[in-house]
Amino acid sequence: MDATRRTLVSGIVATASAAALAPSHTAAMFMDPMPRPSAVPPSTIISTWDHGMPANVAAMAALERGGSALDAAEQGVMVVEADPKNLSVGLGGLPDRDGIVTLDACIMDGDGRAGSVCFVQGIEHPVSVARMVMERTSHVMLAGAGAERFAREQGVHQRANALSEQARTAWEEWKKTSHYAPVINIENHDTIGLLVRKGDGSMAGSCTTSGLAYKVHGRVGDSPIIGAGLYVDEEVGCATCTGLGETVLRTLASFLAVERMRMGDSPQKACEEAIARLIHKHPNLASYQVGILALDATGRHGAHAVTKGFTYALSTNGAHAMHAASHAM
Ligand code: GLY
Repeated sequence: MDATRRTLVSGIVATASAAALAPSHTAAMFMDPMPRPSAVPPSTIISTWDHGMPANVAAMAALERGGSALDAAEQGVMVVEADPKNLSVGLGGLPDRDGIVTLDACIMDGDGRAGSVCFVQGIEHPVSVARMVMERTSHVMLAGAGAERFAREQGVHQRANALSEQARTAWEEWKKTSHYAPVINIENHDTIGLLVRKGDGSMAGSCTTSGLAYKVHGRVGDSPIIGAGLYVDEEVGCATCTGLGETVLRTLASFLAVERMRMGDSPQKACEEAIARLIHKHPNLASYQVGILALDATGRHGAHAVTKGFTYALSTNGAHAMHAASHAM
């Protein structure tokens, strides 16, 4: 983020910039030899579900080591991708109906650069491959075998497809009836979407999932789609979605929320407007859940869901806390 844009979005940074631009004697008059802690703008991180808490802690640690907002967005969700017990993110996730785990992920920087992979197998950290797509190619999205080959060419180890014991047991059970019905708030977690606003005003986000359990082989959800599962524009803010991806794909809910903030809505109002649009297009409320989080360029946040049960983790500098989102029904 350049200094001019920072000046537009942060009063604190604007003050600092004014001092920097002033003649030296004026700047010296206002210079504080011991900067007060209150002069440090806070960083804010927000992410989906209970698994957001360890992700936020890792993301904040990345910032404290001097990392960028993008580093924090990547390193936060990597913790969840690496958890073999997590049934909805990473290689421990529940498989498709053929017993194969396929992963979707994306990452987006505040300046509009984005990277994404979808329908990939055997990759422990799809979010990192998404970042490689963004930083090492001229493309935004790679899919399936092509994404896997790209990852291998970048030195990423690809594992053989293997289900965790927990996922195999669940899949064997499912096969007895092969009944396909996504469960609302399944085990109180789903995709992880994580949004970062660093104290300097820079922003980034990430989103990663194993997608719907027992999906048709080849199905791709909202999580890797820029504008659906995630959208970031640090001039305005960012948003991420979790839940039944088909409903989010049809409404581009993350993009919609960011555009609502651009028109002047608070992050909370923007989330409520996005969920209202989604419900308008999908009135059968008993059959699905979607949750959305938003963060604006000044660090305010919003959270809303179709139905009860959506939790999120919120971190500002040293403090981390879980919250329950408001809901439409
Ligand atoms: N939101 C995750 C998915 O539908 O795949």
